[in-house]
Amino acid sequence: MATTPRYDSQADWYLDYTRNWGAILSDHLPQSLTGRRVLDLCCGYGTLSRTLAERGADVVGVDLSIRLIERARQLQESAPAVISYLVGDAATTDWWDGRPFDLVISNMALMDVDDLDGVLTSVRRVLAPSGRFTFVLFHPCFPGDGRARPSWPDGGYSQEGWWTTGEEGVRGHVGAHHRMLSTYLNAVTGAGLTIDRVTEPPAPVPTLLIADCRPDRSEPVG
Ligand SMILES: C[S@@+](CC[C@H](N)C(=O)[O-])C[C@H]1O[C@@H](n2cnc3c(N)ncnc32)[C@H](O)[C@@H]1O
Repeated sequence: MATTPRYDSQADWYLDYTRNWGAILSDHLPQSLTGRRVLDLCCGYGTLSRTLAERGADVVGVDLSIRLIERARQLQESAPAVISYLVGDAATTDWWDGRPFDLVISNMALMDVDDLDGVLTSVRRVLAPSGRFTFVLFHPCFPGDGRARPSWPDGGYSQEGWWTTGEEGVRGHVGAHHRMLSTYLNAVTGAGLTIDRVTEPPAPVPTLLIADCRPDRSEPVG
């Protein structure tokens, strides 16, 4: 499946819009990651990568957007931690050096990827046998809150696909995919990953979905 880079043309807007945002997964992940090899998949400009590196991890950040990776590298120049940032498509493993990761993270990005099965196959492939995969996304079972952060297209929950409002927020400027919960869960298990735990952080309606996964004992798919 072809992958469309969408963030490069919106990079200036995105950097400004998110400049005060922290990474949602920061609180969910271990405080100490010393000696762990961690992949921040679809890392954007490295908001979570920097936190992981500060916790002692050896971090690789991969993103499709050349402009966001350039910004991540600039930010690293003023920070002590060394992170390896790569421009690459998460639906392939062309960027991978073959050394397995103890932890793969995806912070608010699976709804941005075009080829979900391809990305999850990559995750399964690069994970160490004892590795973990943690992702967070907008909870797909709720319609969102207004024009800035709507989750569902006009056709409602069952209408899957990439869509944009053309108005505010990431949905309006960049667009994103809507997929049903079953699509995400079946894609994760179909890629040879077992879901250990699902978390819905407290909110009036659950706006986020976090999942902690590990490789199946069976052979990787692909
Ligand atoms: C909403 S941003 C989140 C960025 C980052 N994880 C964060 O939390 O700040 C989604 C990111 O996914 C990236 N992305 C989308 N499809 C991708 C793909 N196939 N491979 C790598 N990165 C991809 C985009 O370029 C964008 O940086």
